[in-house]
Amino acid sequence: MKTVLNTSIEIYNKTVPNRIVFQPMEGCDGTFDGGIDVLTRRRYIRFAESGAGIIWFEATAVSAEGRANPRQLYINEKTADSFKMLVAEMKKVCLETNGFEPLIIVQLTHSGRFSKPNGTPEPIVAYRNELWEKGKENQPYVIATDDYCKSVSQKYGVAAKLALEAGFDGIDVKCCHGYLFNEFLSAYNRRGAYGGSFENRTRLYFECIDAVKNSVGNGAFVTTRFNACDCFPYPYGYGVDENNNIDLTQAKLIIEKLVEKGMEIIDITLGNPYLIPHINRPCMNSPEDGKVGLQRIYDVTKELKDEFPEVKIVSSGLTYPGENAMEYAEKLINENVCDFAGFGRMTFAYPEFYKDYLKNGKLEKNKVCLKCSKCTELMRNGTVAGCPIRDGEVYLPYYNKFVLKKSEG
Ligand SMILES: Cc1cc2nc3c(=O)[nH]c(=O)nc-3n(C[C@H](O)[C@H](O)[C@H](O)COP(=O)(O)O)c2cc1C
Repeated sequence: MKTVLNTSIEIYNKTVPNRIVFQPMEGCDGTFDGGIDVLTRRRYIRFAESGAGIIWFEATAVSAEGRANPRQLYINEKTADSFKMLVAEMKKVCLETNGFEPLIIVQLTHSGRFSKPNGTPEPIVAYRNELWEKGKENQPYVIATDDYCKSVSQKYGVAAKLALEAGFDGIDVKCCHGYLFNEFLSAYNRRGAYGGSFENRTRLYFECIDAVKNSVGNGAFVTTRFNACDCFPYPYGYGVDENNNIDLTQAKLIIEKLVEKGMEIIDITLGNPYLIPHINRPCMNSPEDGKVGLQRIYDVTKELKDEFPEVKIVSSGLTYPGENAMEYAEKLINENVCDFAGFGRMTFAYPEFYKDYLKNGKLEKNKVCLKCSKCTELMRNGTVAGCPIRDGEVYLPYYNKFVLKKSEG
């Protein structure tokens, strides 16, 4: 069928055949040393078959202490070959199935406050934050020192080089969802080189982007998944004014710098999946109607796209409309909100959704994501993430065991 989603677009002198992006979705299913394991491979081969033009590989740690869980992917000398094999296989599968090679971007991350490398919290924070720490004040918090920050950019450089050698087309320096770089953007009261002024709060993020660029040269492009606003009440987080209204002034200043650094595509997101998940991913059983959340993402993304028409924007949160997700994605592109439609939870529930839409002009009601948050529950309960409803054969046993705590047999 004819759809704007199936039109090609150029980025970094490469032609992407369609507007579908599979957003980064952590599966928490790597090997303990951070390499690709059986379920990781299964997910990404399904993604490669999907026909999406861009596959944005999940959060992948650059250092052991910054892993979000003991099975988070972690690219290092020992694991890099497993990434290389998977990327090559994905390209081959997509070429054979769909007639093109997708762009594959890896999201490099340091989980900062949400680091749990050994399965229990070992936060590394930009500053102490009452909102976050309520009830958890006695937990040990390591404040990232200025020297530690300097070491992080080195780690990004090393990881980026390995990612380039593994065959990734692009490197995402992740700055969203409350992880380390995102938290630094609101380090208003931190002293020293990485806190206080706008220049200081953005220093770590920009240093790491520069380190990645230096490391990969022209071999891979550098991009970012970026929180336009954190949506915490003032003065926590960044991106809201004193009346708690969203204020994108700082996000615009940051994007201006990102453009100067040569970024042609930016993946826009907002909120925080731990404290206010409904803002990041409109869902059922939420404090607000999902349509309100969807509209918030629309408004924020549109304001940024209007300000930076030359930047290719990926929109987030497109799973919520369920059966109507593709029509909603078309609307966003037609209304110039974004250039790419990014899907997260739908990719776990229904990876062949784009092909079904091209073939039948609609999505299948009994295959779409139900926005029930069970994939998140799996992750928060320390096991592998997937869809226990639509992909129940694989993930329901994990849901029963780790979330419902039902014993087997
Ligand atoms: C289980 C799970 C894992 C996720 N992992 C990541 C991740 O690794 N990196 C990231 O930037 N966002 C991650 N997200 C957020 C999604 O990419 C996406 O922004 C969010 O689900 C909203 O989009 P959707 O409505 O299409 O699901 C994750 C979300 C879920 C539910």
